[in-house]
Amino acid sequence: MDSEFRTIIEPFRIHSVEPLRITTAEHRRTAIREAGYNLFNLHADDVLIDLLTDSGTGAMSRDQWAAIQHGDESYAGSPSWYVFLEAVRELFPFRHVIPTHQGRAAEKILFSAIGVPGKVIPNNTHFDTTRANVEFTGAEAVDLPIPEGRQPAVEHPFKGNMDLAALDALLAERAADVPVVFVTITNNSGGGQPVSVENLRGVRALCDRYAVPLFLDACRFAENAWFVHVREAGYEDRSIPDIVREMASLADGMTMSAKKDPLANIGGWLAMNDDALAERCRNLLILTEGFPTYGGLAGRDLEAIAQGLRECVDPHYLRYRIRSTEYLGEAIDRQGVPIVKPVGGHAVYLDARALLPHIPPLQFPGQSLAVALYEAGGIRGVEIGTVMFGRHPDGTETPAAMDLVRLAIPRRTYTQSHIDYVIEVVTAVAARAEGLPGYRIVQEPPALRHFTARFEPLPNDSTAPAERVSV
Ligand code: F0G
Repeated sequence: MDSEFRTIIEPFRIHSVEPLRITTAEHRRTAIREAGYNLFNLHADDVLIDLLTDSGTGAMSRDQWAAIQHGDESYAGSPSWYVFLEAVRELFPFRHVIPTHQGRAAEKILFSAIGVPGKVIPNNTHFDTTRANVEFTGAEAVDLPIPEGRQPAVEHPFKGNMDLAALDALLAERAADVPVVFVTITNNSGGGQPVSVENLRGVRALCDRYAVPLFLDACRFAENAWFVHVREAGYEDRSIPDIVREMASLADGMTMSAKKDPLANIGGWLAMNDDALAERCRNLLILTEGFPTYGGLAGRDLEAIAQGLRECVDPHYLRYRIRSTEYLGEAIDRQGVPIVKPVGGHAVYLDARALLPHIPPLQFPGQSLAVALYEAGGIRGVEIGTVMFGRHPDGTETPAAMDLVRLAIPRRTYTQSHIDYVIEVVTAVAARAEGLPGYRIVQEPPALRHFTARFEPLPNDSTAPAERVSV
């Protein structure tokens, strides 16, 4: 950090490599047509640079692979469980830690234990699985980001913050119907944007005033802590683990996916201080995930997570991580392609609605851009917009707040030349944006449709009504 040189290098060297399969544009056009124009349906061998998600796709370290050899597979009380517990508690000192196979299992258990029809759960912005798990229990998921959080081009250092006035208004009216307030750090669906400690303190104060518990959806806590370290006054001299512990101290519990910041390929947990709630959650855990000392994970997974937790709070790693995402965003921005600003922690979000104004939201500009990036250069991103959030539990459809394409960067996986290639492809596709078609859905499931829906491109001048099958 105190180097006289400006270049921020990867703080690791490569120890084992995986081949990439080079494909032609013609091959990709066929593959995506056969996949119903849904990037989730592709064979991953047909993808060149996979920016679909940063979830479970990171490269594990030598020390994580070594830790895997220490995995103890005892059904109950495995030493690996204690290694995991200690590593989690080092950063998140909650009384109860309940391991799960991934984040959404933690959500399902928590919302089954607390959420019932008629209840409402506020969040700065729910991630798709969080929203779906809330709605599945019959509760209502409400997003309360600050107004800047809904405007892609507006800069704000903590654009992930929750709108405290809106939360206050909701709690004043309906506190009895709010079993928990959630804050997602960083705010994934809102652009990977951080939440300040000051904002968290404000949420805590409101939760105290209305006697409602506060939980963190903490998947990207280390990236959030890095932003606090470099952007929030008073935190420049505080260590990352220390900032994480302060954020944890403001909450009553958390849900977690170990597939993000903890650098593991699978895993998650649920943690809390409330003894009675923990007991209800453990009983549900035993029903679906497993015994409370492994919860759907192998002992070796618990070891990999514990080691990953130690690595992900390293300031050299975080500096490289955040800078490499920013490098991609800055280059795309320089080319005049609209993105969510400032650049988030784990991903660059292209503003498809602004880039493709000729495609109305209900013809899915984000899907159109995502398909075009794949066809042109084999890059797989993900639509975060009207496909993902536009359909409601009552079957109606409205435009989402934004139509974005997220290019998520797997941790420690791609090099700068891979990213330079991505910049070149995005620039080329943006140059012919006005020729990209809208899409219609020809088949969709009732919830989380973005994973399995099938699409068809519309003729360029189309206003054709949608005819679709619900499965
Ligand atoms: N919360 C947030 C903020 C997330 O980003 C995710 C997953 C989850 C919860 C669920 O965790 O996948 O382990 O069940 N996000 C991934 C993504 C899938 O691509 O952003 P999970």
